[in-house]
Amino acid sequence: MKITLSVLAAGTALLAGCFQDSTAQHSTFLPLDYLTKFQAVRTCRAVPAHGLGYQRVLANDVAAGPYTTGSYPLPPGSVVAAEQHAESTCTSLSGFYLMAKDNPGYDAANADWHWQRLDANQRVLEDGRLQTCSSCHAQPPCNDYLCSPP
Ligand code: HEC
Repeated sequence: MKITLSVLAAGTALLAGCFQDSTAQHSTFLPLDYLTKFQAVRTCRAVPAHGLGYQRVLANDVAAGPYTTGSYPLPPGSVVAAEQHAESTCTSLSGFYLMAKDNPGYDAANADWHWQRLDANQRVLEDGRLQTCSSCHAQPPCNDYLCSPP
């Protein structure tokens, strides 16, 4: 009986491990080799609104042009990713805050932005129509929910 129980416990632990792994997916918006595909559009800086750290903003090909020239709103397919770092040189990645302009109608009340928070391995921690993100990004001087000045 003792053996059966410990085997059961081990099996459950194993299953829990697999389950956790299969739910923490890589973000489909941020390619694993994003550093070769995305452009840096903002320099490393402290962002108190996101906590105590620093961030560097990168954008995909769809977003980079309009983001840098301030041509709002950004088109569907735009991805803007903010690398989060602990120090002012932005050299030790701790995760990402990401915004992707989804299909028209995805969240019409919030300009169809799809929000994500990722860990340093680009696995999704929070995903979707995140009110905590959009409610702050709706405030002036943000434009099309984009808040980082040049
Ligand atoms: C309390 C307000 C606040 C909250 C909450 C917040 N942000 Fe931000 N976010 C900002 C501000 C302010 C900036 C611009 C910082 C700067 O560059 O000075 C910013 C910048 C960004 C950027 C860079 C693009 C840009 O120009 O805005 C991304 C991406 C981003 N935030 C994603 C998120 C996500 C995802 C969440 C939720 C998990 C979130 N933010 C929550 C205030 C907030």
